[in-house]
Amino acid sequence: PSRDALIARLPKAELHLHIEGSLEPELLFALAQRNGVSIPFASVEAVRAAYSFSNLQDFLDIYYQGMSVLQTEQDFYDLTWAYLERAATDTVRHVEIFFDPQGHTERGLAFETVLDGIERALRDGEVKLGISYRLIMCFLRHLSEDAAFATLDQAMPHIDRIHGVGLDSSEVGHPPSKFQKVFAKARELGLHVTAHAGEEGPPEYVHEALDLLQVERIDHGNRALEDAALVRRIADEGLTLTVCPLSNLRLCVIKDIGQSPVRKMLDLGLKATVNSDDPAYFGGYINDNFRAIADALDLSEAEIVKLAENSFTGSFLPMADQIQHL
Ligand code: HPA
Ligand code: ZN
Repeated sequence: PSRDALIARLPKAELHLHIEGSLEPELLFALAQRNGVSIPFASVEAVRAAYSFSNLQDFLDIYYQGMSVLQTEQDFYDLTWAYLERAATDTVRHVEIFFDPQGHTERGLAFETVLDGIERALRDGEVKLGISYRLIMCFLRHLSEDAAFATLDQAMPHIDRIHGVGLDSSEVGHPPSKFQKVFAKARELGLHVTAHAGEEGPPEYVHEALDLLQVERIDHGNRALEDAALVRRIADEGLTLTVCPLSNLRLCVIKDIGQSPVRKMLDLGLKATVNSDDPAYFGGYINDNFRAIADALDLSEAEIVKLAENSFTGSFLPMADQIQHL
């Protein structure tokens, strides 16, 4: 239908994408062989079959295991380049990519191996695919704030190559308040700040992300809808929410795609965006996410255009660059 044609050609930005979550089973297998890393799967099909999750932690266990095949700078380049080529086919013009340095430094890799490989692909993507980028370093919230500070220290010699910090991994039991000091330091350094909040965690965690971390965006934000005062605040401040419909479905945050919070957020005047989160694990890239909710939420063409516009105006691009895309 015409909605699909609109989605296919609309320029868009992707604001919520974990680069390690774009590791497709085929590349996972190829890298395991290249690096002599053993993985507990006999085939690509067996890997895909294992991607059945009942909550966030289920997924994270497999996600951290998958990362173990990433060993060299070239591996991080290949991973990132594969994502960018795929994003280009979805008419993505700008990406703000999360990476999880602690998922790699904990395995003994150098911070630089990770950063150099990802960034080299992003620079090539800018030249060869016309996709601009920002790079967001996430702290793993199941680890300590000291560990986050150690990661920020490792990033310091390269801080001009990193545009923002985020907060991801196991949410419940690891509230934003745990990372108040390290986020204050990041803001002092002039970095952008965002955090996953309200994916599985309560509305209180969204309040904390805003009040204590002073985030500029909310990643997911589903459960913010449970709190009317919070909804009003998000609307009044024009905060962007990076919603991930197929992720929500596959992690059982919602029971069916028709329950995606995008419908309510649009109706409430909140600035929602559509993103793929970990596309290799959740069964779809950004246009797949758009198509899934366009049907299930019966989005109008104007609403689809609005979601794409929100992705640029909610980005960390300077205003002048945002306008170029509208
Ligand atoms: N939530 C929290 N942490 C994550 C996710 C997510 O959806 N993806 C990768 N790390
Ligand atoms: Zn995420």
